Amino acid sequence: MKNTDKNFLINFSPLLMAAVVMFLMLFASEVKADKPPQWALCSACHGQVAQGGIGPILAGQSAEDIITKLNIYKNGGTIGGRSSMMWGTAKQLSDKDIEDIATYIERLSMILASKE
Ligand code: HEC
Repeated sequence: MKNTDKNFLINFSPLLMAAVVMFLMLFASEVKADKPPQWALCSACHGQVAQGGIGPILAGQSAEDIITKLNIYKNGGTIGGRSSMMWGTAKQLSDKDIEDIATYIERLSMILASKE
């Protein structure tokens, strides 16, 4: 190895390390941000991957549809015959919660679709 090459590595390796650490931190927060904590409330009835259970399947719906429906429940509105089962949960959700959950469900749907 030429001396100039060595100097290049010595001078820039801390910068490289910092870049790698920053990338890992970004990646870790991205993965954590993926699943909103409130999803634990929903998955009990709608399934871990929104495949349905006590409540209907949510996978495959757009974030927009989920947001619309959650806001209907939040305001005490009716969609199906069992809407009262959603009222309590929906009322606990902020607008940000609803957006995060809806985005998460839409992403789940895309992951599931890509595995078919
Ligand atoms: C106690 C069980 C239960 C929990 C907890 C629950 N759901 Fe539901 N959910 C239901 C049932 C039952 C329905 C069908 C309601 C109806 O007839 O309108 C439903 C309907 C829905 C719908 C409309 C589905 C459609 O296509 O018509 C959405 C969206 C939804 N839930 C999202 C959520 C989210 C998000 C959470 C968590 C914040 C959640 N649910 C928590 C039972 C539950």
